[in-house]
Amino acid sequence: MMTPSNVKATLSFSDGSPGMELPIYKGTVGPDVIDIRKLYGQTGKFTYDPGFLSTASCNSTITYIDGDKGELLYRGYPIEQLAQHCDFLEVCHLLIYGELPNVEQRDKFVKTITYHTMVNEQMQFFLRGFRRDAHPMAVMTGLVGALSAFYHDSTDVHNAQHREIAAHRLIAKMPTLVAMSYKYGVGQPFIYPKNSLSYTANFMRMMFATPCEEYEANDVVVRALDRIFILHADHEQNASTSTVRLCGSSGTNPFAAIAAGVACLWGPAHGGANEAALTMLEDIQRAGGVEKIGEFIRQVKDKNSSVKLMGFGHRVYKNYDPRAKLMRETCHEVLNALGLHDDPLFKLAMALEKIALEDEYFVARKLYPNVDFYSGIVQRAIGIPVSLFTAIFALARTVGWIAQLNEMIGDPEYKIGRPRQLFAGAAPRAVLPIGER
Ligand code: SDX
Repeated sequence: MMTPSNVKATLSFSDGSPGMELPIYKGTVGPDVIDIRKLYGQTGKFTYDPGFLSTASCNSTITYIDGDKGELLYRGYPIEQLAQHCDFLEVCHLLIYGELPNVEQRDKFVKTITYHTMVNEQMQFFLRGFRRDAHPMAVMTGLVGALSAFYHDSTDVHNAQHREIAAHRLIAKMPTLVAMSYKYGVGQPFIYPKNSLSYTANFMRMMFATPCEEYEANDVVVRALDRIFILHADHEQNASTSTVRLCGSSGTNPFAAIAAGVACLWGPAHGGANEAALTMLEDIQRAGGVEKIGEFIRQVKDKNSSVKLMGFGHRVYKNYDPRAKLMRETCHEVLNALGLHDDPLFKLAMALEKIALEDEYFVARKLYPNVDFYSGIVQRAIGIPVSLFTAIFALARTVGWIAQLNEMIGDPEYKIGRPRQLFAGAAPRAVLPIGER
């Protein structure tokens, strides 16, 4: 709920230029916002905020993060309670419709999603255009965008029913596409979805089954992966969600907008950090393991090196990312269930975390583990290859992207996003004939 505050912001200029009063709005919880929509019209000046450190891009009711307290709420529910009491499709229902489903709503939603899990048979030929060693995120960026080719004529983003079915299709088909990108890479036949399985058990089967024998996923692993999906489902206006909103604001179809989110998530500063974090741990392990942590930390603190502690730090969390705590617990559960409790990488990660959290460099900068620090260890233990980690993140984040996109498109006041700039380039000048340049 956005309510006008009785406090106003007063803008004045030291050169006597005409100032103005700016309205302030309050949300349900969290920082107030100063409404600058009339600033340029009344002062001829822009605000300047590269990286959007102090900018609220929208008014949303979906996810709230308190970075100082390390809190994350989906539609008001704490992530810890959702991870404990719900499964991923219940959370998808919550993010899309605003409420957790009752039994009847849950069963109807599960049935709808289940019956959208197959992709058009032509999709397999699209995959064949890639090299077998293509990075799964390159494949996923292509596959998700390619969904537009099958549905763009039935997805009028300004039609609420079309937006709803596009949401169902994307939530349902992402696991199938991720599994297909994996199977294509390992040279195994694609496994079709099986409607009698749960969403996450179905994904595990499409990933790891072969036509040669029956496949039964480990229940502890399925529950853990389902929780990993919940932890990654949405996260306010992060880079990929902001990309989806800006892309979708042009009125393009949802599949194209979500494909833009996939592309953005791939970056190592964002969703690509889980792959980078595991590669970092493997490098330290290869170099000597726990004894080499001190040397690695020195490299990280050396401004001349570009080495970062991947999986640490966050633009919003200046406390422990609540998802990292839940991911560490999931690590314990999965490693124990698989008899890998002595996993050297998990021990190395915990040792690295302990040392970093006691080091002034990290303490002073409020750098804590984020969702990506432990997620790679769990996924590796499950048998998911490192190169697929970010595709799994994209699978889970798709529901958040869609919920945010639909919230924007469903707002009658929304406009196409079009930021301005501070121009610091060449002043106007005349073109000289080439002989005089
Ligand atoms: C995700 O936004 C979201 O919500 C994202 C996400 C989601 O769910 O959508 O939570 C998912 O992307 C999590 C973040 C994953 N990325 C990483 O783990 C990559 C490593 N982290 C950093 O690249 C960094 O912490 C960011 C990008 C996450 C945040 O960077 P900021 O907010 O722009 O902060 P900054 O780069 O200005 O860093 C402030 C200081 C700098 O030092 P000084 O110049 O002040 O001396 O902290 C240092 C940075 O050098 N720093 C790190 C560090 N992260 C920041 N130093 C070492 N290792 C790190 N990981």
